[in-house]
Amino acid sequence: MTDFNEAMSATAEAVSEVLDDILEQTEGPENRLLEAMRYSALGGGKRIRPFLVVASADLFGVARASSLRTAAAIEMIHCYSLIHDDLPAMDDDDLRRGRPTAHIKFDEATAILAGDALLTKAFEVLASAETHSNGEVRADLCLAYAKAAGDRGMVGGQMLDIVAEGHDVDVPEITRLQRMKTGALISVSCESGAILGRASASARTALRGYAHDIGLAFQIADDLLDVEGTAEEVGKATGKDEAAGKATFVSLLGADRAREQANMLVEQAVDQLNFFGDKAELLQELARFIVNRRS
Ligand code: IPE
Ligand code: IPE
Ligand code: MG
Ligand code: MG
Ligand code: MG
Repeated sequence: MTDFNEAMSATAEAVSEVLDDILEQTEGPENRLLEAMRYSALGGGKRIRPFLVVASADLFGVARASSLRTAAAIEMIHCYSLIHDDLPAMDDDDLRRGRPTAHIKFDEATAILAGDALLTKAFEVLASAETHSNGEVRADLCLAYAKAAGDRGMVGGQMLDIVAEGHDVDVPEITRLQRMKTGALISVSCESGAILGRASASARTALRGYAHDIGLAFQIADDLLDVEGTAEEVGKATGKDEAAGKATFVSLLGADRAREQANMLVEQAVDQLNFFGDKAELLQELARFIVNRRS
């Protein structure tokens, strides 16, 4: 295994342990909610956002206990976004991470509530003194996550995604949509490393540039996999974007030019990290993994 693969699986395992702890089961019939939250948060996934939190926090020597709890928070927000994205009212998907989606495994009401509770739990974790001893750092994390997840970030992007269905959109519009829908949570993952590490303005700028580029590249890669991948490989149904009339870089530019665009963004992202020297090698490899992945 390469150092990068080892670091990815070590972080995935560590963040799963923290999630397992945070999502403790309860007595009583409301435990059905916890079961659905655990089903969605502990059932695989590449754990890319947690990796970004931990690797960016490592640049500033942040204690692992802090970065892993923050990583658990971003993964809970991500899992909530996936549960709601899969609902019949949205993408209407039955398969996620190689298993039935939450509303298929449980029911729609439980899936909606599990999403709501994962989002709320993320903020409970960010605001807790166990995550960081400094209240100002915790407030900064909460603010950054709220902005990234909400109407100016992921949720706003999901709205744009729905509004754009079946319409012609141009490159600036699709770029804005994807930066919000996917880029915002990726960006805040990197930013949280800088917040936890009280990074300098120049370090923040370099990380922000990197995150901006990989966020867009990540969604282009997802859209390419929807066209070129199989459900066995990616663990979710493919060929759905075209069928639903989704606006993507692939629908607009075609697969070859979309891939070129993603590769260009990744090389740009890698260059942004030269600021940190060798310390940023794992993050540079992650950028390349994002466009070369098969799932
Ligand atoms: C899928 O994200 C949803 C998008 C934002 C495109 P990932 O590809 O990171 O999904 P998991 O977490 O590995 O399942
Ligand atoms: C979803 O984008 C992004 C989210 C905010 C969840 P997609 O709808 O393309 O994600 P997949 O392909 O279902 O994972
Ligand atoms: Mg969607
Ligand atoms: Mg979807
Ligand atoms: Mg997709």
